[in-house]
Amino acid sequence: SWTMAGFRNVEIEKIRKQVGDKRVICGLSGGVDSSVAAVLIHEAIGDQLTCIFVDHGMLRLGEAEEVVNTFRGRFNIKLVHRDASELFLSELEGVTDPEIKRKTIGRLFVEVFEEEAAKIGGADFLAQGTLYPDVIESVSFTGGPSVTIKSHHNVGGLPERMNMGLVEPLRELFKDEVRALGRELGIPEVIVGRHPFPGPGLAIRIPTDAITREKLDLLRRVDAIYLEEIRNAGLYDAIWQAFAVLLPVKTVGVMGDGRTYDQACALRAVTSTDGMTAEVYPFDMGFLNRVASRIVNEVRGVNRVTYDITSKPPGTIEWE
Ligand code: XMP
Repeated sequence: SWTMAGFRNVEIEKIRKQVGDKRVICGLSGGVDSSVAAVLIHEAIGDQLTCIFVDHGMLRLGEAEEVVNTFRGRFNIKLVHRDASELFLSELEGVTDPEIKRKTIGRLFVEVFEEEAAKIGGADFLAQGTLYPDVIESVSFTGGPSVTIKSHHNVGGLPERMNMGLVEPLRELFKDEVRALGRELGIPEVIVGRHPFPGPGLAIRIPTDAITREKLDLLRRVDAIYLEEIRNAGLYDAIWQAFAVLLPVKTVGVMGDGRTYDQACALRAVTSTDGMTAEVYPFDMGFLNRVASRIVNEVRGVNRVTYDITSKPPGTIEWE
């Protein structure tokens, strides 16, 4: 009978057979799919695998450190961590159009990835955490903005450009099966159970505005409080995706004896099974009040909190 432990062993054998004594590089994003692919391949071929983590500076609070600590520290995987945030920020300077943000980030991502791959002398194979739905969607996906990103997210186009074979051990799996495999491999729950996160990261959660380090830092702090409260309330796993959006609007508020004139933010939380349609998560008001009061009190520069109650369709999950 089929078991996840059995699947793991079969895949490990397949990877060994495909790769032989050659070298593999794997782009790591900190997301579930690339993490599970990397750990599985590492079990199969050990140090023949090198992971490349291109840190574009648009990740959530503490996420980059977590990726490095987990993969280097816990799994002993060879990992190149390239902090490219300066480069990404400078190329994104003044960019306000969502599609140009995405394209800029996608292009730089590939460039930096290739640069780092060249530095370690290249490899014969590229590993990707492609799932079964990705295989299908690459043909028929009509979900709007994510069309472009899917390819970026999965480092699409890279294998052709770099003339490499592909190692894609998750090609037959759905998301929940990848999570089960990740648990089987001992990957920490914070990674295995993580909500989906878009390739361009926080850059598409600062709508209308150009991205700056200051705005990213502000958004990261708001987002961290929101997610902490969601975890503390035991709601994280019931939600498909939850995140904060920094709005390009200043509003008046009162704080003690003074008047404030600061930015507004929006909170988003949805349930979904595949991201193609989504329903608003029905938090109770007590929860929302608690989050709003923490954000306004703890994050100077944000003085108003709204909750986005739009379903998809007609809304999208992300604001850009
Ligand atoms: P939307 O906003 O289109 O999002 O309802 C559907 C799902 O796709 C994610 N998303 C992206 N993922 N690059 C990605 O890798 C992108 O550019 C991108 N845009 C949206 C979104 O977070 C949601 O899970």
